[in-house]
Amino acid sequence: MNVAIIGTGYVGTVTGVCFAELGHNVVCVDVDTAKVDQINAGIPPIHEQGIPALLKKHVGKRLRATDDYNDAILKSEVTFICVGTPSGDDGRIDLSIVRSASKSIGKALAERCVDARYAYHVVVVKSTVVPGTTDDVVLPLIRENVRYGGYGGYKGYGGAEEVVGVTMNPEFLREGKAVHDFMNPDKIVIGGDIRAVDTVARLYKNILCEITRTDTKTAEMIKYANNSFLATKISFANEIGNICKKLGIDVYEVMSAIGKDFRIEGQFLNAGAGFGGSCFPKDVKALIGRASELGYDPLLLNAVIRINEEQPMRMVKLLANRIGDIRNRRIAVLGLSFKNETDDIRESRSIPVIRELLNRGATVAAYDPLASENMREVFPDVLYCDSAKDALDGADACMIMTEWTEFGSLDREFDAMRDVVVIDGRRMVSLDRGVYDGICW
Ligand code: UGA
Repeated sequence: MNVAIIGTGYVGTVTGVCFAELGHNVVCVDVDTAKVDQINAGIPPIHEQGIPALLKKHVGKRLRATDDYNDAILKSEVTFICVGTPSGDDGRIDLSIVRSASKSIGKALAERCVDARYAYHVVVVKSTVVPGTTDDVVLPLIRENVRYGGYGGYKGYGGAEEVVGVTMNPEFLREGKAVHDFMNPDKIVIGGDIRAVDTVARLYKNILCEITRTDTKTAEMIKYANNSFLATKISFANEIGNICKKLGIDVYEVMSAIGKDFRIEGQFLNAGAGFGGSCFPKDVKALIGRASELGYDPLLLNAVIRINEEQPMRMVKLLANRIGDIRNRRIAVLGLSFKNETDDIRESRSIPVIRELLNRGATVAAYDPLASENMREVFPDVLYCDSAKDALDGADACMIMTEWTEFGSLDREFDAMRDVVVIDGRRMVSLDRGVYDGICW
């Protein structure tokens, strides 16, 4: 099938190369011409495992990029909206990019629909949007622009409704494993009317996975409920961990045991510095925002966020308990990305920790295998080191913020510290000397 993908960010790029790998012809659209040129030259616009090889394999054959909506959409049967849905200042979802993409798609479809040969096109919302957005925001904007663009009923078609289907197909991709997750999903959810859903389902026919067919609003909610539940598991583990810490119990032993209960399941119970990334914090807050608009106060979801925001501060408190005044002390921060195997620092738990350390007058020596350059834009005054050993050299204390595997084998490197004081936010090391404090153990 011929597919247009709007937005070459994280979700758009993964979706584009994976559909090409599944045998479809893909045109990626982005208003940023530098990104378009980059993709056409076979250079990935994001850092993600598996993308370089797939892009190289398909670019110029089954995949290309353009900044022209008409060029992409006129020749496609399906258009995916994969643009960003950032949080507004109050945590509520900012739909401005979704709106402008919907208008542009509508205008391009107006051209397409005046010719019956091109009739019937499905627009798929893949961006994470709060329940109701596809039907109440995207669909009207598309229909309006299709109509004003000149289409009002062509050769026996009754109107824009009959030539444009709109569906919602959320993604459940983990950064770092997104290509694997796309190709091996545990669920595919498509919301919309039967004809539109059937069209989108055909795109996935070579993937062995049951398709959950539903309405658009439910599809949107499934995405939020999925992420909110995973975030809740983490905050739950953190809360139990905070209690365990006071009782001298190892929360990892507790979670490993309860994870054996098939009703609980063992993943996402790693207690620590909390969850970051572009999804969990934003999505839970967006759902809280939508619930509040509807007059419901989501007690549990608010607690999930509150626990998550307090975890980094608990680490700074543990540090202060161990070394006293932080001013003019050199603190090594190991790990800057929000999780391992990515250079993404969005909502990373290291950000509030570094901010607090700097506010208190510390010198921060940081190391991350991938994310230093991104963090430099947030904190230019931090000393960025080329290795964990360099960051630890002469440090008064060390804070482990990200679960990078290489931190697990650190040992003698700690001896370069002025004092061996390690505050571990990810349960990465075990030390038989100096001071070691786990955040929840
Ligand atoms: C998350 C979901 O896992 C995906 O299913 C979803 O599609 C994606 O959001 C999205 O909405 O697009 P991602 O943000 O890539 O994926 O990251 P995760 O691997 O889920 O980790 C999120 C955060 O939770 C990280 O900061 C990680 O350190 C933390 N975490 C994870 C814990 O603190 N404990 C755990 O047990 C697991």
